[in-house]
Amino acid sequence: MPPDLAEGFFDRLKGMFICFDGGEGCGKSTQIVRLRDRLAAIGLEVLAVRDPGSTRIGEAIRHILLNPDHLEMGMRCEMLLYMAARAQMMHETIRPALAAGGVVLTDRFISSTLAYQLGGDGLSADEIRVVGKIAVNGRLPDLTIILDMPIEQSVERVRAKFERKTPTLYGDEVTVIKDRIEQRPLEYHAKVRDNYLAQAKAEPKTHRVIPADQSPDEVAAAVWKAVELAAHERR
Ligand code: TMP
Repeated sequence: MPPDLAEGFFDRLKGMFICFDGGEGCGKSTQIVRLRDRLAAIGLEVLAVRDPGSTRIGEAIRHILLNPDHLEMGMRCEMLLYMAARAQMMHETIRPALAAGGVVLTDRFISSTLAYQLGGDGLSADEIRVVGKIAVNGRLPDLTIILDMPIEQSVERVRAKFERKTPTLYGDEVTVIKDRIEQRPLEYHAKVRDNYLAQAKAEPKTHRVIPADQSPDEVAAAVWKAVELAAHERR
């Protein structure tokens, strides 16, 4: 028997709900693909989703949220829209997949709202948690992996991702395209990082911080360890 399948490990992974979270450009999607492939290789059904999004309604809400023109949006409206997209994703995709014994990997979840919207317009963590529980009907991730890196590095990664070079007669013209949230100042993103680290400290049983400024292989190995540990602690 392959070691991955030893001691009921396979069964413990069934119905497991894992969230990947962290600041901009921390490498969540790369790691989600790596974990998805590894879990699928041992025969598990895996659903990977992104929050906000992954449903028709969720993608429409995502578009409203990230549109750089919507500068008038208040923080409470922003928080509720993220929650609404999440509620639909939970209802339409996550719950059915978990009930069928699949593993669900989500790119962001309530932990993102607790990092990005906390403090905006006086929003407290308790308020966000209460609305969050209503949105997802009490089903929180079994494991939240926070990919952490220095803020200067993550901002640089986002910049590299969205930079467009247009050749002109006088050389390349560089345009940086950022969504409504990415456009916020460095201090905002530094606070977001602090909020993630504070969450992990407050909930060490379900949250793991993994340094993301190492090679993708090293991050993937740390992710796998965290998943193994969380699976063994289930039931
Ligand atoms: P993404 O770029 O990782 O797909 O996430 C979309 C953006 O939305 C990103 O800038 C983080 C932000 N966000 C929040 O502000 N609050 C939330 O609850 C979530 C899920 C994302």
